Amino acid sequence: MQNHPARLIARKRDGGALSKAEIQDLVSGVVDGSLGDAQLGAFLMAVCCNGMTAEETAALTLAMRDSGRVLQHSQVTRRKIDKHSTGGVGDKVSLLLAPLVAAAGVAVPMVSGRGLGHTGGTIDKLAALPGYRTDLTSERFQQVLEQCGYAMVAPSAEIAPADRRMYATRDISGTVESIPLITSSILAKKLAEGIDGLVMDVKCGRAAFMAPEHDAVALMESLCAVGRAAGIEMAALLTDMDHPLGCALGNSLEVAEVIHALDGNCPDDLREVTLALGVEMLLLAKVAPDAEHARATLVRLWHDGVVHRVFRHNLELQGGDVRVLDDVSLLGRAPFVLPAEAQRAGFVADVDPLALGQLVVDLGGGRRQPSDAIDPHVGIVVKHVLGDAVHVGDVLAFVHARTLAAAQAAVVRVQAAMPVGDERRRRGPLVKRRMA
Ligand code: URA
Repeated sequence: MQNHPARLIARKRDGGALSKAEIQDLVSGVVDGSLGDAQLGAFLMAVCCNGMTAEETAALTLAMRDSGRVLQHSQVTRRKIDKHSTGGVGDKVSLLLAPLVAAAGVAVPMVSGRGLGHTGGTIDKLAALPGYRTDLTSERFQQVLEQCGYAMVAPSAEIAPADRRMYATRDISGTVESIPLITSSILAKKLAEGIDGLVMDVKCGRAAFMAPEHDAVALMESLCAVGRAAGIEMAALLTDMDHPLGCALGNSLEVAEVIHALDGNCPDDLREVTLALGVEMLLLAKVAPDAEHARATLVRLWHDGVVHRVFRHNLELQGGDVRVLDDVSLLGRAPFVLPAEAQRAGFVADVDPLALGQLVVDLGGGRRQPSDAIDPHVGIVVKHVLGDAVHVGDVLAFVHARTLAAAQAAVVRVQAAMPVGDERRRRGPLVKRRMA
């Protein structure tokens, strides 16, 4: 590093601003190791407490992007648009959305992440698909993108390496919940994909990382402003994470839900959020004149089986076993499946996404430590939504577990997460706000 790190950290601690060159210097220190762990932790805490200006956040994002390889996809003629979610429970939208918008003529170069805390990750869901490879070389990534319109890969070590170290340090230093740090972490990786535009699905509600609506809106604004400053087109939707998305929670159960959804059997909320994000992607790609046409195109492609065919083609190209499309039992199944039954009559008064997301992690479907192995088959399939009328003994959800004891304990927790009451409550709007 050219600057003395302690001086820069102290300026940030005292609420001052850093120049672009100073931020680039700090990020190069993150990558070459000349910024020590204590210094990095102190810098992150100073940012977390005092924030950053829009210019600083943009400089940090670009320095993190440029800490590694920036993909180009020069052979791909379609507009390249991606979607990123800030993380939810049951959020399997990417698996449906990528083939959906690819079918409409958009290229989707998707570099996805692993699950974080109680939220699932696309890469973990794809790992539940037998044979599916997400460790493609950059060259193969580009070929798959050209041939079927989308490709889904795990981040390689060459993409935004500064984020890897910064994220790991944030995770253990109480500095995850910071708008400039989240903005730069997400956008550095997305900008390195070589995209023309990005649609952000910013979650708000109990199971979101930015639970209160005003924080989530501030994050949307920051993501849109920094993405545009970095030269890509941006749109963002604020979507509800006060309830799980869809019915299946847990990796292979979610993949099975996606396969059924491709054939038209899709839970309403999952369908609505997928279409809403798809519309934004088509608008950014300029392949539809307005939202109404975009939606009509997507509905037709989904209904006519085109999306299913694009998904199949991608499976073939990325090594997945296409037989799962006709027989989801090939995804495998946990040994113990028990029903969680309603213990009184009334209306489903809650479907608590945080409690259910945590339960999936405890069943082995997520990680407590970064090195934990995931059990792809465990999870929960919810059978009722908020406000449904139920009788005593009706199945609220099925739990899928590795042992009988785990299944029995999970049943009790599902019953607590899905209480039954006298009042009929309804879910609020799924898409709460749009920024474009
Ligand atoms: N996802 C990321 O990649 N980074 C964050 O900081 C939060 C969510």
